[in-house]
Amino acid sequence: MTTPRSAQWYAGTDRNAYIHRAWMRRGLPSDAFDGRPHIAIANTASDLTPCNMHLDEVGRSVENGVREAGGVPLNLPVVSLGETQVRPTAMLWRNMAAMAAEEMFRANPVDGVVLLGGCDKTIPALLMAAASVDLPAVVVPGGPMLTGTFRGIPIGCGTDVWRLSEEVRAGTMTQTEFLRSESSMIRSKGHCNTMGTASTMGLLAEVLGMTLPGIAGTPAPDSRLLEGAHDTGRLIVEMVNADRRPSAVLGRGSFLNAIVALAALGGSTNAVVHLLAIAGRLGVPLSQDDFDRVGSDVPLLVDLLPAGRYLMDDLYRAGGLHAVLREVRDLLDPEALTVTGRPLVDYLDDARIYDADVIRPRETPLQESAGIAVLYGNLAPDGAVIKPAAASPHLLRHRGPAVVFDSVEDLHARLDDPDLDVTPDSVLVLRGCGPKGYPGMPEVANLPLPPKLLAQGVRDMVRICDGRMSGTAYGTVVLHVSPEAAAGGPLGLVRTGDIITLDVESRRLDVEIPDDELAAREPAPGMVEAFAAPRRGWERLYVDTVRQANTGADLDFLVGRTGDQVSRESH
Ligand code: FES
Repeated sequence: MTTPRSAQWYAGTDRNAYIHRAWMRRGLPSDAFDGRPHIAIANTASDLTPCNMHLDEVGRSVENGVREAGGVPLNLPVVSLGETQVRPTAMLWRNMAAMAAEEMFRANPVDGVVLLGGCDKTIPALLMAAASVDLPAVVVPGGPMLTGTFRGIPIGCGTDVWRLSEEVRAGTMTQTEFLRSESSMIRSKGHCNTMGTASTMGLLAEVLGMTLPGIAGTPAPDSRLLEGAHDTGRLIVEMVNADRRPSAVLGRGSFLNAIVALAALGGSTNAVVHLLAIAGRLGVPLSQDDFDRVGSDVPLLVDLLPAGRYLMDDLYRAGGLHAVLREVRDLLDPEALTVTGRPLVDYLDDARIYDADVIRPRETPLQESAGIAVLYGNLAPDGAVIKPAAASPHLLRHRGPAVVFDSVEDLHARLDDPDLDVTPDSVLVLRGCGPKGYPGMPEVANLPLPPKLLAQGVRDMVRICDGRMSGTAYGTVVLHVSPEAAAGGPLGLVRTGDIITLDVESRRLDVEIPDDELAAREPAPGMVEAFAAPRRGWERLYVDTVRQANTGADLDFLVGRTGDQVSRESH
């Protein structure tokens, strides 16, 4: 067994070792410093991250497992992001959470980390941090909440908020009825129960090999989550003893497996930017095009909201992630490892589908080809993505006049105007919502439809945006347009009335304007003004250094891995 990293702090008789031990002797016995692994439990529990409020309890189970295996568990609160609470958008803070966690993992005397996350950005941020530090690391996904019901009908949190609010806007539901549904939306602890970003990233953490096999998707209130957390505590000690680091687990095959799973699950488009960012931290070659090349022909097997009918506890009951993966086993890299040291595919033999309505067998998929399509054209020179499974089939090939909004505020000011010149064939363009432009790349790409069209029964239109889309949303939405308008992308040059063509089968997104005419145009003045606003603090650092969506929207100086060593000390 190699000398643990924490021994650099605790071993020896010099003054520094004395200080490190003495200040930690608040309940720790002297043999805690005899070379046994010290495990940080990176805990995103916070009263302001409601989806992660239960993680202290999960952490206690991890602690028990660590102790049982001979390690020393240490609670390490880290930056937490409540998706529904933080302004202006949680994505602005993902890289900050990742940077802060990375620095604290490296700065502290720990040998391994257990990553407790749940709400959308928390697992991606922790994985980015762990990848850059490359200490042995394992995720415990906090798990989805149980399904709530409203008037006897299951409701999917997130997705049904959009649906019900659209009903109010369309005049088919009263405001009072809408507000009555509020207390039914969130039934229990846990993250959103649709196949949104939190569910997707929790499941993909396991597909990447970064969790105890079988734990992802366990509902937050299910006692099996605590059992899995306990086992994870034992596992991290074993991982430290085996020196099993993220760089040894996460290879290109792991990410390609995640892309296959993303398609079969019908997962969130946000996984594209998160997986690209995690891969970027490790130096694993992965591009946006890999999502199309590897995932676009994968069948959709899981019938969950937002595109389908069921919710996360239905998926767990129906056989869970392993039952889905078993159906696409031939598409998975058999060499890709997990934190146990064994390949992911080794864990699929016993998986079964118990409800073929929720998880379809490969022979009878919900869609033959799911996954992400990556579009290029004169509107998106560096690409844009669309999730055809969440789109209306009749709009996947479409030509129509643009109705352009320069910002979210511009959208809100004009969308409800009865005089807005818009028809069901119009293409709604929302720009100024990319990583730099907003800043923080908010989930606004699924912009609401004009009320006068809703009243006519229109429920979907082609929408184009340089921002992201909530994983709980649906519609014919082209998002992550790169480069974004604020970075000089051609999306900033489109004018209302320009004809836009979308052809998903040909992977094209174009505005019917000659290139020289487009290049000669000036960006809209309102957009330029908004982007030139003075900034300070994190926002300034972010805007100055954030990369575009097609590479994961990480900060340019955070890409890559610097390992766990710190060479200097000030005592
Ligand atoms: Fe936390 Fe949806 S708001 S997962």
